[in-house]
Amino acid sequence: MPEAVQANAHICAPAPLSGITRALISPRMPAPVTRKVHIKTYGCQMNVYDSQRMADVLAPLGYAVCDAAEGSDLVILNTCHIRERAAEKVYSELGRLKKMKANREGMMIAVAGCVAQAEGAEIMRRAPEVDIVVGPQAYHRLPQMIAEIHRGAGKALDTEFPVEDKFDALPAASGAQGPARFLTVQEGCDKFCTFCVVPYTRGAEYSRQPAAIIAEAKRMVADGAREISLLGQNVNAYHGEAADGHDWTLGRLIRALAEIDGLARIRYTTSHPRDMDDDLIRAHGEVPQLMPFLHLPVQSGSNKILEAMNRKHDADFYARVVDKLRTARPDIALSSDFIVGFPGERDDDFEATMKLIREIGFIQAFSFKYSRRPGTPGAAMPQQIAEDVKNARLAALQAELIRQQTRFNESLAGTVQSVLFDKIGRYPGQIGGRSPFLQAVHCEGPASLIGQIAEVRVIKGAQNSLTGELMRANAEAA
Ligand code: SAH
Ligand code: SF4
Ligand code: F3S
Repeated sequence: MPEAVQANAHICAPAPLSGITRALISPRMPAPVTRKVHIKTYGCQMNVYDSQRMADVLAPLGYAVCDAAEGSDLVILNTCHIRERAAEKVYSELGRLKKMKANREGMMIAVAGCVAQAEGAEIMRRAPEVDIVVGPQAYHRLPQMIAEIHRGAGKALDTEFPVEDKFDALPAASGAQGPARFLTVQEGCDKFCTFCVVPYTRGAEYSRQPAAIIAEAKRMVADGAREISLLGQNVNAYHGEAADGHDWTLGRLIRALAEIDGLARIRYTTSHPRDMDDDLIRAHGEVPQLMPFLHLPVQSGSNKILEAMNRKHDADFYARVVDKLRTARPDIALSSDFIVGFPGERDDDFEATMKLIREIGFIQAFSFKYSRRPGTPGAAMPQQIAEDVKNARLAALQAELIRQQTRFNESLAGTVQSVLFDKIGRYPGQIGGRSPFLQAVHCEGPASLIGQIAEVRVIKGAQNSLTGELMRANAEAA
């Protein structure tokens, strides 16, 4: 799943109190409507979704979300543990917050997300300014943790994988978001790739029930969503139990979601090549709402490295899945994740990755230098690769991927693409949105088109975005 380092920016607005959460608030707590929470999100889209859910669970306590840590009563860092740099960022941010806390009485600091899960109490040892450490499976318990601290219980730590379903315990997702939303349908991973911390931080694979997902999707659509991206660490391993006792696959779930009136676009991420079953592949040809773009991480093109990574597929298997997808949906475009410098990767292994990239063709990609993560099998493997070798390989790989991305974007000049507009553009009179292939698109147009899908003629494609003009009919209708 690509990293989406982004902070949630919201206008502060007081939230009403429900009876239950009122009961959780101690009489010694200050008037609830005056509180501010700032949530800083690191890592993948699931963290973006989780941050929103934490805001939802805190709203009834009177916490309004604010876009600055400065002046907030509670700051939550929703963290990522995927690479060493991601985890270290948290500690440098905590250093900054410590100074802020010294000047603001009653300010609380919480660490959530995958660093919280992986490091637990160690965080409080290393950063005593932290009041709360809460793992991804325990967000529904946040109100209680906060109430306990206000009652004078000191610090609170919860990194359990509780038996209850946190999704049942969390309140319904709130409104006030854009037209493109994330919706977690699956969490956790049983694949245990030897480089990866996710099976340890997010736990075993778990699928939400179809009825709960459909209800949440309907609420999102009623509230203005036109596009929903279904999220899971391993989303195509989805196997939610339906009311009739049968398990639904992701393909089945997508077909059901496609029946929701007003839901124009469906995406899903992140998939594992091994779980691309035939029904899901067929859905790409049969469900018009399913966008012709798929993020399908391969990591390496060398069979030796894929095996050492415990990816459970080889390069040929990946190519066959791509062939099947292209047969079902000829215009489907792909993106992927790559790791260079995994232990034991020789020049010929890296060359195999470059060959795979040239043969398959990607319109977008995320590529990383292998980062040794404590507790994963890869960290203990011999033949770790020198940093300068990793740097050189990453540069060569990214140069090829950028070439492919730019070539694809340029090839769309002159075509008409439907664009879901979701924001004001950088320049006056401009609006911005996303193409079916998830490219950023900007053009001149009225703000009234934000939240809608309109046809755009692409004038120019560049490395990172498309520039276009609204088709006359859309411009007139707006
Ligand atoms: N299920 C998701 C996992 C998210 S991790 C997926 O399979 O895509 C996102 C990406 O981070 C992975 O695909 C991988 O390319 C990269 N990654 C994970 N662990 C890493 C590590 N130890 N070093 C470098 N990159 C890593
Ligand atoms: Fe990590 Fe592999 Fe699971 Fe993806 S499939 S989350 S890379 S262990
Ligand atoms: Fe990072 Fe956890 Fe997502 S480790 S990539 S935030 S699942």
